[in-house]
Amino acid sequence: MRQESRAAASVLPALLCAGCAGAQSAFDTGGAQALGLARLMIFIMAVCAAVWLAVMAALAFALWRRRQEPTQPLAIDARRQRRMSLVVGGSVAATVVIIGLFTVTSFWVTRSLWAGDRDAVKVDMRGYQWWWQVTYRDGNQAFTTANEIHVPVGRLVRIRLTADDVIHSFWVPSLTGKQDLIPGRTNEVSFVAERPGVYRGQCAEFCGVQHARMAMQVIAQSPQDYDAWRQSQLAPAAKPSDPEQVFGEQVFLSKPCAACHTVRGTSATAQLGPDLTHVASRSTIAAGVLETTRGSLAAWIADPQTIKPGNNMPMVALSPDELNAISAYMASLK
Ligand code: CUA
Repeated sequence: MRQESRAAASVLPALLCAGCAGAQSAFDTGGAQALGLARLMIFIMAVCAAVWLAVMAALAFALWRRRQEPTQPLAIDARRQRRMSLVVGGSVAATVVIIGLFTVTSFWVTRSLWAGDRDAVKVDMRGYQWWWQVTYRDGNQAFTTANEIHVPVGRLVRIRLTADDVIHSFWVPSLTGKQDLIPGRTNEVSFVAERPGVYRGQCAEFCGVQHARMAMQVIAQSPQDYDAWRQSQLAPAAKPSDPEQVFGEQVFLSKPCAACHTVRGTSATAQLGPDLTHVASRSTIAAGVLETTRGSLAAWIADPQTIKPGNNMPMVALSPDELNAISAYMASLK
């Protein structure tokens, strides 16, 4: 019986993992922190499965070997008493050992999630209803972007987490565990992405009606690609070249858009919404809701409340020409 349950305990996690692949799976690990957590999960699941099977086996055994009703229920049977205290004592000891083991291994594994390193890439993340503000600081150079974190492969990334309005939670399952973003408090989380790729993340704390549409991406790149990305993000916005884009910039700066957004290199410097300096370089808009294309930018600007009801972006009255021009301008901000 023991051998059987051991075999089942090793097959069970394998079966469970069969459906756990892809860009947002805690079992499809992209770095040491995530690998540690995945192993911890499999270990805990395997032990729990073994315990469950042992309990079921004991139950089946008890039902099968059901004893006769004793003729004298109050008589003390010393042999039976001894056996019962052995079984109960053994179960209590096993429980204590298992809980102790879980506590120690969890502590050991999760300690790596807050590992410090002087050479780490430092990123500040601030949660808003319902998007992520991302700020890179390096000496006196800084730039802000949204919903997308680029990281160099193989280097520790240390993220400082804060929130503007309500509690959100940072969770990129393939890279590291969850960590909350709490107003008035700074939390931290660290991870290393060991292979290039796009890792999807999702807000993991209910934060209002669009909680489900508060996604993010971590894009792990070679150090050279990361440096190139960083340099392009540090630069101010591209000056519009063709007449439609020039008109689009004028519309953007004269309408309420500029009261909420920043486009570095122009007079728009407001911080209420995402920084749009390089909005077209990001793969999605509205925190993962739409792929960034000129068409989706136009759709979003025309009616953000239908696409993501309840978000803070108002519908701004624009003529068809203005909408066309402003989406052309936004799409040019690479
Ligand atoms: Cu932010 Cu849920």
